[in-house]
Parts: sequence; structure tokens; C-alpha cells
Amino acid sequence: MPETNERIIKPEAAGDDKTLDLTLRPKKITEFIGQENIKKNLRIFLEAARKRKEPIEHVLLYGPPGLGKTTLAHVIANELDANIRVTSGPAIEKSGDLAAILTNLNQGDILFIDEIHRLNKTIEEVLYPAMEDYALDIIIGKGPSARTLRLDLPRFTIIGATTKISLLSSPLRDRFGMTYHLDFYEPADIKKIIERSGKILNIKLPHEPAEEIAKRSRRTPRVANRLLKRVRDYCQVEGDGEINLDYCLNAFKLLEVDELGLDWVDRKILEVIIDKFNGGPVGLSAIAASTAEDIATVEEVYEPYLMQLGFLDRTPRGRVATNAAYEHLGRKKRGQGRIV
Ligand SMILES: Nc1ncnc2c1ncn2[C@@H]1O[C@H](COP(=O)(O)OP(=O)(O)OP(=O)(O)O)[C@@H](O)[C@H]1O
Ligand SMILES: [Mg+2]
Repeated sequence: MPETNERIIKPEAAGDDKTLDLTLRPKKITEFIGQENIKKNLRIFLEAARKRKEPIEHVLLYGPPGLGKTTLAHVIANELDANIRVTSGPAIEKSGDLAAILTNLNQGDILFIDEIHRLNKTIEEVLYPAMEDYALDIIIGKGPSARTLRLDLPRFTIIGATTKISLLSSPLRDRFGMTYHLDFYEPADIKKIIERSGKILNIKLPHEPAEEIAKRSRRTPRVANRLLKRVRDYCQVEGDGEINLDYCLNAFKLLEVDELGLDWVDRKILEVIIDKFNGGPVGLSAIAASTAEDIATVEEVYEPYLMQLGFLDRTPRGRVATNAAYEHLGRKKRGQGRIV
């Protein structure tokens, strides 16, 4: 286990990522790399809205952390030359908070609500008429004399983002005209992303190290940008400042990130299933206990990538390590004479 508990390959923003995210965030759709299907749809959708000179329908973006939801929300606003106001589910505590935000919007403005699955129920109910009829229902007074007052709102657009679409209530989901699912990137696109970042950060990045970084980035742009910076730092301290393949590989050895982007926690999860539970099935709580991680983190952060690699299966009876996982760790399946 490395000395620091901070995982270099975690997909959520941490430490100085916020500044890095801001510096490297593409602003135009042409700078947004990969996700071709989304871009194709989005281009038509934006063009139609521009032609009609109307605000766009509400948009829902979902997918794992670090794949570009916030980026895409800003790209949409930029492409439409629209003002964007940013808030998040947990930041809106009372319905009055939401009312204040909504009444301050102008025609065509975009309201970006990050972590929209964390909005509470009463606030969601204020949002329904706002999204559907551009109206705000305000209750005045209390008890039998209470009345509802309907305020008209300008035509605005909500862009909601979530990593957990399953937690979004269906009435809320239904009020979005467009829903886009961001998926893990192709390694070739990740390579293009770090090459673009290299240019912005003034880092000379040869082809081979770029490929090595891309391979280890868990198909996630945020991880890729972070690894690029760490490799650059390593080469500056240990070498002559230039990134080359040997130093790049040494940096990954030091960071304990293997050629698939797995770190010690991922490997520990697989080892627990294979060595302690003979390959599974094993319950999530047992895995979490053996790795000292909480259940939600194992389920939402570690497992999606292990499943994406085909190393882990979720079955009704628990988690199972696949043959590919045995092979990756160089383990033999019990009762068999060879690695399977
Ligand atoms: N398609 C892309 N092309 C180039 N860079 C990208 C792309 N998508 C994301 N990035 C880079 O990755 C960083 C992280 O993306 P972003 O903050 O949009 O992710 P997110 O999906 O909102 O994550 P979270 O769920 O943690 O909020 C961005 O700042 C940007 O530098
Ligand atoms: Mg985000």
C-alpha cells in the first residue's frame, strides 16, 4: 500500500483537480473529444434550437464521475451563447432557495443542477411546474387560509447531471426532453485528450508515453489529466524534465498503477474474492470489510471499472471473480493445474 491513502486513479475530483478541470475543460463542441454519438445528436438539437431562436428543452446528463458531464453542460451553454447558473442538489436546501434561483433567471438562461439525484422531494415538487409550465407555485399563508399564487417564469433550460440515474424519481426524469448517457472513453480518445492537455499545459508528450498514460487512465478523462500531471512531475524531479517512456513507466511503478490502470485497492478487491472466498460468490459487505472501504465506494467507484474490464461479475448470490481476473493476478484456480 502506498504511504498516502489518496488514490491517484480515483475518478472523482480531489485536491487540485478543480483548478486542473477548469484549465483543461473544453469550451466548444469541436474541442470535446470522443462521445461521438452524443455530439452528433447534440449538434442537431442545438442547430434546431438556434434556427427556431428558442431555448432548448431540459437536458439530463448521466454517467460515472470524471467523464465530462459538467464540461458538456458548459459546452452547451457556450454553443448557445447562453448564461449558465450553477448549483447542485445538496446546495438547494429549501424550496425558497430554488424559488430565489428561478425568479432570477432570464429568458434563455441555463440552470445547471449538478448531483440532481440529491434534490429533496419537496424541492422536486417545486421543480415540476417550473420545468413543465415555466411557472412557480408559491403558497401564501398557513392552514385553511393558505392560497397558492402562480408566478410566471421566463423560458429557461435546466441541465441536470447525475452519476446515479437510478436514484432519480421517474416524474423528474420524464421532464427532461433529452437524456444523454456518457460512457467510458476509447483509449484512443483518451490519448487525444491528454495530447490536447499537454499542449495547454506546455508539456511535451511523445507518442509512447501518451499511449502508456492513456492505457492506465481507466478510460476517464479526469484520471488521464491527473496521471499526465503526475508523470510530468516525476520526470521533472527524477529526470531532465522531458517525458520519456522509461521515466513514465517508473512513475507508474512508484504510483503502483498497473498497465490496466488498477491500483492496490482494485487488486486487493480481486485478491479478497479469489484468495479468501475461492473466487466467490461473495457479498459486497464482506469485500468492503476486507478492504476497509465503505460499501457505497466499492459499489460505485471500484466495481464499475472492474466489471468494465471483465474481471468481476455481479450475480444474485454475490460478486464473482472471472477467469480474466485470475489471469491478471497470475493466480491458479483451485483444483486446476494451470492458470485459466
Ligand atoms: N470529452 C472531453 N474532451 C476533453 N476533455 C474532457 C472531456 N471530458 C472531460 N474532460 C476533462 O475531464 C475533466 C473532468 O470532466 P467533468 O468535470 O466534466 O466530469 P464530470 O462528469 O462532471 O465529473 P463529476 O461526476 O465528478 O462531476 C474536465 O475538466 C476536462 O478537463
Ligand atoms: Mg461534474
